[in-house]
Amino acid sequence: AMSKTINVFFIDRNGDKQKAKAKIGTSLLDVAIDNNIDLEGFGACEGTLSCSTCHLILRKEDYEQLKAPNDEENDMLDLAFGLTPTSRLGCQITVTDKMDGWVFVVPKDVSDARG
Ligand code: FES
Repeated sequence: AMSKTINVFFIDRNGDKQKAKAKIGTSLLDVAIDNNIDLEGFGACEGTLSCSTCHLILRKEDYEQLKAPNDEENDMLDLAFGLTPTSRLGCQITVTDKMDGWVFVVPKDVSDARG
C-alpha cells in the first residue's frame, strides 16, 4: 500500500522556510531527517526521549490541536534550549492528516540533556 504524505514546513535556524514531505504515521524527527533539513545536533538520541535536541516550536493554533505531552516528554522539554509555551519534542509527535501545512520552528540552539 502506498503511504500517504502531506506537506509541512520547517523554519530553519537561518529563518528560511523549507517544505518537507511528511509520511503519515512517522515522527516529525523522521520527517526532518528524511527531508535533509539542516539541523545540526538535532535528534541526537534518535527518538528515545533522552536528549531534547528534537525540540520544535509550533504555532499556537497547531499546538492546541495535539494531545498534551505526557510526563516523560514534559520532563525532557524542561531541559530544552529556549522552551516556549508551544514547544514539543519532534520525536514524540506522529504525523497525521490534519497536519497538512503546519509550520515547525527549529530553535536557534540545542541543549543535549545527556550532557
Ligand atoms: Fe532525543 Fe527526541 S530525539 S528526545
